[in-house]
Amino acid sequence: NKKAIIFDLDGVIVDTAKFHFLAWQNLAKKLGIEFTTEDNEQLKGVSRVKSLEKILEWGNKEISEQEFEQLMHDKNEEYLSYVDQMTTSDILPKVKETLDYLKENNYPIALGSASKNARRILEHVDLLSYFDAIVDGNEVTKAKPNPEVFLKAAELLKAQPEHAIVFEDSLSGIEAANTAKMLSIGIGDENILKEANYVFKDFEDMGLAKFKEILNE
Ligand code: BG6
Ligand code: MG
Repeated sequence: NKKAIIFDLDGVIVDTAKFHFLAWQNLAKKLGIEFTTEDNEQLKGVSRVKSLEKILEWGNKEISEQEFEQLMHDKNEEYLSYVDQMTTSDILPKVKETLDYLKENNYPIALGSASKNARRILEHVDLLSYFDAIVDGNEVTKAKPNPEVFLKAAELLKAQPEHAIVFEDSLSGIEAANTAKMLSIGIGDENILKEANYVFKDFEDMGLAKFKEILNE
């Protein structure tokens, strides 16, 4: 039975974590809260609202609902100013080759992301046309590690979860894929992603030969 492939976006297809970091760091600075790259690590896969809640919690800060909305808006504006400068050169190594292989061999492909900016980013890096289905932060109500995002993606691809393969860079995303009974492939640090069925540093490290093996399991 043919596998369906679901990709997370941020940290798997493109390295947008550095842009999120810059925008969150500026916001934290305005609030007098320290924000490090380690803190940013904990926000991977976490929604915009939840991320701000965490930063406020870390800084022991309470703000009005109105200020919260304003900060979310400002953060996203700054983030988008970086996103809008993205080009095809921002695609992570060997991602395009992997997508090309899948497309040429008629594998159904979906995006499963927490981001509300997913389509905009895919347009900038010219990858939108690869995806048969897109499930992003505008469509999900339950954030990863809840499997909703991946289950919806599989459903749109008309694939059973057992026949789906998920690429993820966040632990919450790996947990979501595992809960959905999908095959999980972690992209990143094996010490963080140890619950994944496979972990590779990046797509180059995985290699197409290994991926073909996994596809035929
Ligand atoms: C995830 C990122 O993919 O999307 C998180 O890993 C981000 O860092 C989340 O907060 C929401 O993204 P956006 O683009 O809707 O703010
Ligand atoms: Mg991610």
